[in-house]
Amino acid sequence: MTQTLTVLGVETSCDETAAAVVRLSSSGVEVLSSVVASQIDAHIPYGGVVPEIAARAHVEVVDTIIERALAEAGTGFADLSGIAATAGPGLVGGVMVGLSAAKAMAMARGLPLMAVNHLEGHAVSPRLEGAAPYPFLLLLVSGGHCQLLAVEEIGRYARLGSTIDDAAGEAFDKIAASLGLPYPGGPALERLAAGGDASRFPLPRALLGRRDCDFSFSGLKTAAARMAEGIENDADRRDLAASVQAAIARQLSERSERAMVLFAQTHAPAERLFVVAGGVAANGAVRAALQASATAHGFGFAAPPLKYCTDNAAMIALAGAERLAAGLVDGLDAAARPRWPLDEAAALANPVHKPGRKGAKA
Ligand code: KG4
Ligand code: ZN
Repeated sequence: MTQTLTVLGVETSCDETAAAVVRLSSSGVEVLSSVVASQIDAHIPYGGVVPEIAARAHVEVVDTIIERALAEAGTGFADLSGIAATAGPGLVGGVMVGLSAAKAMAMARGLPLMAVNHLEGHAVSPRLEGAAPYPFLLLLVSGGHCQLLAVEEIGRYARLGSTIDDAAGEAFDKIAASLGLPYPGGPALERLAAGGDASRFPLPRALLGRRDCDFSFSGLKTAAARMAEGIENDADRRDLAASVQAAIARQLSERSERAMVLFAQTHAPAERLFVVAGGVAANGAVRAALQASATAHGFGFAAPPLKYCTDNAAMIALAGAERLAAGLVDGLDAAARPRWPLDEAAALANPVHKPGRKGAKA
């Protein structure tokens, strides 16, 4: 590409208010600033994210976070080529806060607006630092999502598999809660699992041997919760945490291996790159299992640094910059969407989740 594009990104779809400035040019991607304000403390007393509290907290800080991102990047509005914001999927009250702020700035400054799918942000996140050329196979594992996608280029995705019940991060969080760990449970469970015996508790292996690439964590969640009730000492808790972590890592790698076989049917060896993104990619055991799977199937392996694995606005700004470069610009009437599958055709043709009133879930 010949132009240099500098894009401000805004992310407010869950419990992080984030803003970032990213520059995309022929020499690559440069993150000029990435500010993330977590609201986690406001939600801890409730054991999960409360949508109304989240939306109000976004309103209170979004202006300050945007100002900080611009100041840290040393950019003013005059330096910007466009403004990107998450337009869904997510908690719609929060999404509207960031999207409205972005629309107001775009209108006031006459800048193009890019309404970005949060999942697309995660999909481009490995490109923020290090090389992840298109196409690649993506495992997106977060608190809200668990899916395998063939990412061909910006805006072009094919869904290979998705969870039929909980997301992997949700399973980590719920099982952690039954072990008495605080929210968010994933990192706490990983700490507890260190030194535990992962072979101690036999847990169900869902969907094993199925030909598709779907996931299921509800059986594991129920079995682990039942085992947690009978636990008597800290050594048992450590062993159960380690067993759960190993079971989740194993399912993620088994299903990913199936997707690698499918992806390899349509992509040459030089195009075989496996990328993992989303909050659960922060888990060491999960990363190690996935890396081993990739190597075994002749795929390269990439995972964004931890700060870009969890929710941030740099990934939204980069998705916006790549959209702008491709001429994919949105109008000021772009809607905030609680549900928004990346591969809309697959979601409609084969809804893993039954389409509800609002359409197929992501
Ligand atoms: O991507 P993310 O920040 O937010 C969503 O878009 O959902 O992911 C958050 C999820 C939470 O469920 C959290 O428990 C999980 O990622 N997570 C982890 C770890 N760090 C975050 N799960 C397991 N091990 C970790 N170290
Ligand atoms: Zn996310």
